[in-house]
Amino acid sequence: MLEAPILAAPQTKGHVSVARLAQHWYVACRSSELRGRPLARTLLGIPMALFRADDGQASAVLDRCPHRNVPLSLGRVVAPGRLECPYHGWQFDGAGRCTVVPGLCAGDGAVERRAPAFATRERDGFVWVYPTPDEKPASEPAPLPHVTAPGYTTVVREVAMDCTLHAAVENALDVPHTAFLHRGLFRGTGERNEITAIVRQIRHGVEAEYVGEPRPPGLAGRLLSPSGGIVKHWDRFVLPSIAQVEYRLGPENHLLVTSLCTPVSDFATRMFAVVSFRLRIPGVLVRPLLTPIAMRIFRQDAAVLKLQSETIRRFGGEQFMSTEIDVLGPSIWRLLKQAEAGAVPVSEQPEVVREVRLSV
Ligand code: FES
Ligand SMILES: [Fe+2]
Repeated sequence: MLEAPILAAPQTKGHVSVARLAQHWYVACRSSELRGRPLARTLLGIPMALFRADDGQASAVLDRCPHRNVPLSLGRVVAPGRLECPYHGWQFDGAGRCTVVPGLCAGDGAVERRAPAFATRERDGFVWVYPTPDEKPASEPAPLPHVTAPGYTTVVREVAMDCTLHAAVENALDVPHTAFLHRGLFRGTGERNEITAIVRQIRHGVEAEYVGEPRPPGLAGRLLSPSGGIVKHWDRFVLPSIAQVEYRLGPENHLLVTSLCTPVSDFATRMFAVVSFRLRIPGVLVRPLLTPIAMRIFRQDAAVLKLQSETIRRFGGEQFMSTEIDVLGPSIWRLLKQAEAGAVPVSEQPEVVREVRLSV
């Protein structure tokens, strides 16, 4: 059971401090981005240098050479997979241990020189990092089964968002904005229809199931199903950083948009949008049409979230007023606040918490 009910709060105030969410896995980069050169990435305000160590193992160390504090990410990777500092050439292995001090003939061998290192996992084309240094995580990153499932086409796009983690996640799962911000691309044309959203607690999160929704109007909906019909639609949030939108139309058409949101800092979020689909129309035909529409939608979202952040800063903090049709936003905020306080709620059985009528 959750510690507190996840019903909509009329007002929420005060952003989540992402530094307190360090006991979770986050995507640092795509596997394809980590090739020969080290990569600088910041997670939860922590600068990291990513590189491929021995056997090509994705590795992450604090981006500060312990010798004179030059960024290690500005160095290079030398055989057999050591990160070499650009200043005096100290070399580090994937665990952050200094293995070479050029010019040092003998002496203080007992002194352990090392850079703090972070646990990593590489799967489904992503490098995940656990941003607590020198800790063996008790959990594993979330699996993304549809990325490799037969019959599915997957497109991944990375979007830098000037906004809080909460704002990025809420936006990815927020239905009412689509008819306005994405008018014509996704919803916003044709008649509105009354539908029901069933909100459930799920393991480590919350989900809304939308019942009775006709295929959303707009270009993206027409691609999903040219012949229309009633869609099955779920929006779900899994603590602390995964937002997933799932559409099913008939036995054939299935679309999943999984937004892996990595907090860079309290007001900067890097989103890896994983769009996986299996449609009646072959993926090779849909992909070139769907990708630019999806990117246009992501850019519209990024632009409005930047405006939101600027306004929040100008006024010295958030002060949100919600209604029932902000179906998941207040629940996401509440769950993040619980995670910030160190409590990760676990709901073993999905449990309906409320139903909401709305028109979309
Ligand atoms: S600062 Fe890195 S080796 Fe000296
Ligand atoms: Fe959007």
